[in-house]
Amino acid sequence: MMANLVTSLCCVVLAAVVVAYAQRRIQLVARNQYERMGSDVTMQCGSLDRDASVSWKVNGTDVISPHHLEGPRLILTEVDLGHNGLYSCFQNPHGDRRDTIYLHVGLLPQKPVITCRSNTYPKGFYCNWHLPHPTYIPTAFEVDIQHNQRSLTVQKDPVHKNRCHVRFPEVFSSYPYIVNVTAINALGKISNTYSFEESNIVKPDPPERVTATPIRFNPRRLEVSWQSPATWPDIDSFPLKYFLRYRPLIRDQWQHVELSDSTSHTITDAYAGKEYIIQVAAKDTEIGTWSDWSVAVHATPWIEDPLPITSTTEVDFPTETKTSPIPSSRAPQKGQVPVDRAARVVAVFSPLLLGLMLLLM
Ligand SMILES: *[C@@H]1O[C@H](CO)[C@@H](O)[C@H](O)[C@H]1NC(C)=O
Ligand SMILES: *[C@@H]1O[C@H](CO)[C@@H](O)[C@H](O)[C@H]1NC(C)=O
Repeated sequence: MMANLVTSLCCVVLAAVVVAYAQRRIQLVARNQYERMGSDVTMQCGSLDRDASVSWKVNGTDVISPHHLEGPRLILTEVDLGHNGLYSCFQNPHGDRRDTIYLHVGLLPQKPVITCRSNTYPKGFYCNWHLPHPTYIPTAFEVDIQHNQRSLTVQKDPVHKNRCHVRFPEVFSSYPYIVNVTAINALGKISNTYSFEESNIVKPDPPERVTATPIRFNPRRLEVSWQSPATWPDIDSFPLKYFLRYRPLIRDQWQHVELSDSTSHTITDAYAGKEYIIQVAAKDTEIGTWSDWSVAVHATPWIEDPLPITSTTEVDFPTETKTSPIPSSRAPQKGQVPVDRAARVVAVFSPLLLGLMLLLM
């Protein structure tokens, strides 16, 4: 009987401890509250009654921004990013902490902007998306891509956050692809769709390893060669054509050459001795758009061995020393005025000096 009572007493005490601990945990763990920028925000201190008296702190100091209190509630007007922070409330008169709220001020997402491109035709394509305006709070995206009323498998890019990859389910398809991107955050969600046909998004990467070399004894020629982009998977079945542009460094006007299939070209109309800048772009021979320009390469056509540069500087040097006497010969003329004046001063004072000398004698 006695033992039983002790046991149940123990249980009650234990339960009370557990409950107290759980309550403490609730008070200590901050909960998140997301609010729209510009709105008036109400934060409720735990589940305290309407007539409870509490005081609030943000980031550990008293709340100073415009606000008012209604019992256990803190009301902030027209919140902006400066109101973000960790808010805690304490019940008067003992100052026990009753709640902790992390306030996050943000915006609803706006329609995502979507673009898609295939640089690996006919293997697959990728889509990028971004929000036209930041939301300031975590925002996630859902992507759905439909083709011929079927959802395609979408693979997230391991590096680019807002990018996904898709394999073409078939080649030469006339059905459009429909991309639906939904942006979701704590304040709401919004979708946008983008529709395209296979042939419109094909854009290869720029050609690689572009080189330009002078040709011996040919002062107007440059030999340019390059490789097809490594990302283009099947150059034999899906050949690329190329576009070459070049100009002397000192000119703004580009000259262009379009080349089907070849990965080299000889420029024959270069200005002798002028440094050239050269770039190449690529495009599928039938569909899509031109790639961006390749990294610029510089080259100068072959020129006959010029005279050693050292001899010309040796010639220049003596002429420079010869010219220097001209300014220095002027200098004495300018100096004549003070000299004259000094002479005159001496002339005026010399009788006095003479008198003084006579006196001293
Ligand atoms: C609270 O601290 C955070 C982070 O340090 C800061 O961004 C925020 O502006 C602070 N909030 C207030 C109301 O001072
Ligand atoms: C886009 O996806 C969202 C979320 O799955 C869906 O609610 C919406 O209806 C879709 N929009 C279109 C045009 O299919």
